[in-house]
Amino acid sequence: MPRKIAAGNWKMNGLRGDLATLKTLANAHGDAGVDILICPPATLISACADLPFQIGGQDCHAEASGAHTGDISAQMLADAGATAVITGHSERRADHGETDAIVAAKSMAAYAAGLVAVICIGETLTEREAGTTLDVIDGQLAGSVPDGATASNTVIAYEPVWAIGTGKVPTLDQIAEVHAHIRARLTARFADGAAFSLLYGGSVKGSNAADIFGVPHVDGALVGGASLKADDFSPIITALQNA
Ligand code: PGA
Repeated sequence: MPRKIAAGNWKMNGLRGDLATLKTLANAHGDAGVDILICPPATLISACADLPFQIGGQDCHAEASGAHTGDISAQMLADAGATAVITGHSERRADHGETDAIVAAKSMAAYAAGLVAVICIGETLTEREAGTTLDVIDGQLAGSVPDGATASNTVIAYEPVWAIGTGKVPTLDQIAEVHAHIRARLTARFADGAAFSLLYGGSVKGSNAADIFGVPHVDGALVGGASLKADDFSPIITALQNA
């Protein structure tokens, strides 16, 4: 069975003063029965390490160490207390030119450091309107997910680029179609493909989470904006617990 995961991606938000949010969440959901993964900025990872959550980075370099000023390796994230790292988020693909090959290399670096890679895929609005969504997904799955992926070291997050931070959410049928497609591809390629957790991401809120978690092959969410405040993230965690 895939694990249920409520993941929060804080992006480039969060100062030490914002850790109170996580203490509030910990009091409410310390024993949630689902996995809660918080991905704060790298500067806050070690400060989060004692919380009753899994902590993740938002990116890592493909190399373990070396002359890469400003970059952070997967091993450094693990050393700071992380157990996971997001790879291939669409903002990194767009802002930093990350290709599928780079995302796969970063994911392999995550495995080498003992981290779970939360590999993000998803189509742009242009691709959806052109009717190529499933082709795009196929290309990203083939190119971004390494052969060494297992249900233990990899989570797949489907995040339509046009739904991220926009308040626009695909229909439940559209989410169902893509998640079923991802599940079929994983099952065809990996012996434990049925056990990979598949997250939906893009404008998830307390008001739509229960419906989204009712879609087959949706095992949780990767949440951006609504993960920044306990009052917003808490109902999403509760919806996943009840799903
Ligand atoms: P959002 O972001 O929830 O703010 O749409 C999701 C993400 O980028 O992971």
